[in-house]
Amino acid sequence: MKIVLIGKNGQLGWEFQRILPGLGEMIALGRDELDVSDHASIQKTLIRLRPDLIINTSAYTEVDLAETQVELAMGINAIAPGVMAEAARQIQAVFIHYSTDYVFDGKNNRPYIENDPTHPLSVYGKSKLMGEENTKRSGDAYLILRTSWVYSLRGNSFVNKVLGWSRKNKTLKIVSDQVSSPTWARLLAETTTQALAACKENLLDEIRERRGIYHLTASGYTSRYEWARRILACDPNPTEQLVQTIEPVPSGEFPTPAQRPLFSALDCGKFFNEFGLRLPSWEESLQLAMANT
Ligand SMILES: NC(=O)c1ccc[n+]([C@@H]2O[C@H](COP(=O)([O-])OP(=O)(O)OC[C@H]3O[C@@H](n4cnc5c(N)ncnc54)[C@H](OP(=O)(O)O)[C@@H]3O)[C@@H](O)[C@H]2O)c1
Repeated sequence: MKIVLIGKNGQLGWEFQRILPGLGEMIALGRDELDVSDHASIQKTLIRLRPDLIINTSAYTEVDLAETQVELAMGINAIAPGVMAEAARQIQAVFIHYSTDYVFDGKNNRPYIENDPTHPLSVYGKSKLMGEENTKRSGDAYLILRTSWVYSLRGNSFVNKVLGWSRKNKTLKIVSDQVSSPTWARLLAETTTQALAACKENLLDEIRERRGIYHLTASGYTSRYEWARRILACDPNPTEQLVQTIEPVPSGEFPTPAQRPLFSALDCGKFFNEFGLRLPSWEESLQLAMANT
């Protein structure tokens, strides 16, 4: 099986680079090899490479900047996935794409299911929702996996930010009214790959039959405040921490250009019913991730 991975240097893309070679011949593309804001070159590259499987982990993920860089965010998050889905259909490849809990407005009082009404509050959320719609319109054998609060121990994730702040400050103020499921990029990549591996013999037909939107996050949910507390509790080098107090504060204390949903946990029952897989709890995942550093 020939696999094209798009967005190889992101949190999720990096984890896929580790695991996909076990599934087939991987061609991993970063921004330098394929700029996904250049839609003609997406089409040309995919038709030339003719993979059996396309995994798109590229995205414009600067939620606040997207409020002003609307055209760029739309080009990458809304239009590019539709172009990839269309190319996949032409070459009879499976297309895997990721979306976000930010397609919802966060006013639910229970985890969202896939066909709950969407109502994004931000340009980022709107652009990702349009990416879903364009994928559905152009795609054939595709999965759209909505996930939330993705982190890894590489780069500028919330986990590394909290660790960094804890070394410079005695008091941390962390938002306590935003609730969702922190999801370790490695487990997201592994679980997606496991689901695909189980269908490997007849991948195109199996995914075509099951095509659609699925929620896939760690089990359980929490606030950013509780997440930060747990990050510090799992810190492999606690003696480096200066922090003495972690204070819960409302989102209003840190006004941001983009509005975020307050409660955006996702119910992952549909993915479990269809593929027999679920991610561990966010607490177990975090412990595993941080023991790995
Ligand atoms: N992060 C979250 O909290 C979160 C939450 C819910 C859903 N998601 C979704 O999950 C997926 C993976 O997210 P992630 O956290 O892995 O994102 P990430 O770490 O921000 O990675 C995104 C990747 O996209 C690449 N990219 C951006 N613009 C590009 C362009 N014009 N051409 C080619 N590549 C481009 C970036 O390239 P460079 O490395 O060159 O910048 C980066 O490697 C995305 O679909 C995202 O929307 C993420």
